[in-house]
Amino acid sequence: MPKTGSGLSRRNLLMLAGAGATSLALPFPRPAIAQSKPVKVGLLLPYSGTYAQLGEAITRAMELYVKQQGGKLAGREIDFVKVDSEASPPKAPKLTTKLVEGEKVDVLTGPVHSGVAMAMSKIARETGVPTIISNAGANDLTRRLCAKNIFRTSFGNSQVGAATGMAMLEAGIKNAVTFTWKYAAGAQSVAGFSRAFTQGGGKIVKDITVPFPTVEFQAALAEIASLKPDAVYSFYAGGGALKYIKDYAAANLKASIPLWGPGFLTDGIEAKAGKAGDGVKTVLHYVDDLDNPENKAFRAAFKEAYEIWPDVYAVQGWDTMHLLDVGLQGVGGDAGKRDELNAAMAKAEFKSPRGPFRLSPAHQPIQNFYLRELKDGSNVYIKTVVEGLEDSMTGCRLAS
Ligand code: PHB
Repeated sequence: MPKTGSGLSRRNLLMLAGAGATSLALPFPRPAIAQSKPVKVGLLLPYSGTYAQLGEAITRAMELYVKQQGGKLAGREIDFVKVDSEASPPKAPKLTTKLVEGEKVDVLTGPVHSGVAMAMSKIARETGVPTIISNAGANDLTRRLCAKNIFRTSFGNSQVGAATGMAMLEAGIKNAVTFTWKYAAGAQSVAGFSRAFTQGGGKIVKDITVPFPTVEFQAALAEIASLKPDAVYSFYAGGGALKYIKDYAAANLKASIPLWGPGFLTDGIEAKAGKAGDGVKTVLHYVDDLDNPENKAFRAAFKEAYEIWPDVYAVQGWDTMHLLDVGLQGVGGDAGKRDELNAAMAKAEFKSPRGPFRLSPAHQPIQNFYLRELKDGSNVYIKTVVEGLEDSMTGCRLAS
């Protein structure tokens, strides 16, 4: 039995704690127990399938952040427990339970897929485990289903869609076809886009979808060619986005019907897209060449550690650990003080590689959105579309 700092075995401590439950005068300071072992962080992320690269980027940046802090946050070692979500919503309840009840993680993070996030966050709300969503944009998580223990370091699907709609209007685009995967993220992305675009006078010619995670785009591309809109708005990501960009170019549509979308369309796959990606315009809360010291240092460290450049997913993983770091500092490393940990994270403000980072009362980043263009295998900054864009907090009681 490993000894704790007080010289008592863990079993003895537990017995003493039990026996002394009615007495306030325990013979040892409680934080010493909690702080003798690592903080367990459960990662529910895709390590296989179309979103595998996204899960890998998030994980790598999280590990790098902790490594840069000497392996500890607020004096506590961090133990990552990784589970492959397979981006599969039906598997999410069991996998989340495995982390929360089986592994007894102190903190949950992930996922990439909005459907997985809905299942994971239900368990987070029920059990109260502090949870930091490191990608999935499901709107409800920071609207009607917001909770004091659920935070997001990424974006809301409609938030990114709306920013892209603004940029397309500014570019003089009058009408557009939307074409996306048919699941929560695609639908909410298109809804956010359509709202901003039509409110500004734009017209939606047609909404086209294919099931997630199919990469059979030909029929829809033929239809788009015959509809001849001013532009196309598409939400795809990861391996599916790469195939889509190549198919779009091969269909000879790029010159006549510009391809637009939220930046997930090109992030992480820009180099592999090659010439096929040239000219694709996207809007996102990150762009590689943002001129700030945090971004420069982050990019250099990531490249050195992994021999590839980071993308938006890596930035989100990095900021997830930064947020947890702030939270743990606020409780002297005692992750068991959940209310105080949540309160410290809610107030966090720091400089992220993406620009200033802060959260709304619904725990959603209020952030800048940038217009980028893919050129020679990299996303190039064109302009800032909107600064400090907030997502609606509709139905969130934390916000009232
Ligand atoms: C989502 O399912 O919310 C999602 C997945 C991948 C992205 C963005 C959003 O790149």
